Amino acid sequence: MSAHKIIIAIDGYSSCGKSTLAKALAVKLGYNYIDSGAMYRAITLYFLRNNVAMTNHAEVIEAISNINLSFVFNEHRQASDIYLNDENAEPYIRDMLVSDRVSEVAAIKEVRTFAVAQQQQMGKKKGIVMDGRDIGTTVFPDAELKLFMTADPEVRVMRRFKELYETNHAITIEEVRHNLELRDYIDTTREESPLRKAEDATLLDNSLMSREEQLEMVLEMVKDCATNKKQ
Ligand code: DC
Repeated sequence: MSAHKIIIAIDGYSSCGKSTLAKALAVKLGYNYIDSGAMYRAITLYFLRNNVAMTNHAEVIEAISNINLSFVFNEHRQASDIYLNDENAEPYIRDMLVSDRVSEVAAIKEVRTFAVAQQQQMGKKKGIVMDGRDIGTTVFPDAELKLFMTADPEVRVMRRFKELYETNHAITIEEVRHNLELRDYIDTTREESPLRKAEDATLLDNSLMSREEQLEMVLEMVKDCATNKKQ
């Protein structure tokens, strides 16, 4: 693959397979993969553990000043784990308790300013794949390749249900559907950087696509991007 490193921004609805694609791309290209959603989830975990009143401006600002986030590569997962103040938060951030509140936290202006500044810093050296909701619109508006992913809502519900059921047999399909619908609603209607497709992003509906087909297609796009850049 080309040595010319670019930024790949992947946005889309919850449970569209953004992280699966982003991770596979990063492994193939030797890029860094950053899951920006993990940052909002770790912040939510901190808020829940410390009973931060999410509607209290002063409390939120104080809490953010006590949060330090970092990513450490995990060989086993072939992706980075997120650390919240030196604790590996990865085992806790996908809990339903966090999923139920994360969109609310991610809608807070100060939270976004804090997270976006760190994300932009991580992209300085290029060679990065980042997935989220505002990567192509706000974090990296100049990214060389932007994808906007979507899939049939029922396909997304079943994908997320299967993933969660592996570690939680008490979870129901209805619970997962409710959480996804609510998060999509909050993510697309919030005032601060709502989820939307950047004008120059390529729409990718993967409802009927295998992971392999999708990866191959996007690797071709990356190749085209790198070639065009050199001309
Ligand atoms: O990608 P995810 O489902 O782990 O993201 C969790 C939540 O964080 C999601 O409901 C919306 C929010 N988010 C965001 O607002 N902006 C991002 N760049 C990434 C995630």
